[in-house]
Amino acid sequence: MSLNRAAAILGLVSVARSPRAGGGALITFEGGEASGKSTQVELLAGWLTEEGYSVVTAREPGTTAVGLAARSALLDVDDELAPHAELALFIAARAQLAATVVTPALAAGKVVLLDRFGDSSVAYQGYGRGLEPERIAEWNRWATGGLVADLTILIDVSVSDAVDRRGDKPPDRLERAGDEFHERVRAGYKRLATNEPCRFFVLDGKQPIDELQSAIRSRVGELLETGSSQRMAPE
Ligand code: TMP
Repeated sequence: MSLNRAAAILGLVSVARSPRAGGGALITFEGGEASGKSTQVELLAGWLTEEGYSVVTAREPGTTAVGLAARSALLDVDDELAPHAELALFIAARAQLAATVVTPALAAGKVVLLDRFGDSSVAYQGYGRGLEPERIAEWNRWATGGLVADLTILIDVSVSDAVDRRGDKPPDRLERAGDEFHERVRAGYKRLATNEPCRFFVLDGKQPIDELQSAIRSRVGELLETGSSQRMAPE
């Protein structure tokens, strides 16, 4: 049964609400390499659109011209990048995306689905590269005008499974960073999820695509229909 139909039958609402004043919701997807989050973003966007929501999807780094230039400078190069330079490029891409895509979409009452956001920098450059995670979280807030996701879906995949999933595809610069780096990233994500259990929804990436999608739809449906995140109504 659709979200709107179920809500109508229950007599709850005629129009789905969102957790933000003025409408809109920000849902981010996070995880290590090859977690399958892009597929899940696409499936969720299709479903939400069918349900009548106005949806915007974006990818980090990417989507804007600055984001695409940063993506290529960050991933398609052989040279080593200083960790601070790496972080600065990710933050620049994020600032541009926040200002030109995310903030206007939220103000227009849209549901924004982001394939990676600030938590990626905290996990990869903070826990992975050894820069200060708290300081990176602060820079994320500064660069985005204080944007925080209403819900963050973390798809957890082991480092060895990620390597298997990549198969013969040539690795980019971050994928070449080594198993120990990626183990630190994975542990960093777990720590973030433990620290903010209300914002994070953690899923085992070993599950089949449709099972993951159904768990995601149910959690997102709860967020959008009740107009509250777990932050406001703990389970
Ligand atoms: P993607 O391939 O999932 O789109 O992600 C691009 C790569 O960039 C991936 O290896 C994760 C990495 N990354 C960071 O290290 N820090 C960040 O802030 C972001 C957004 C991505």
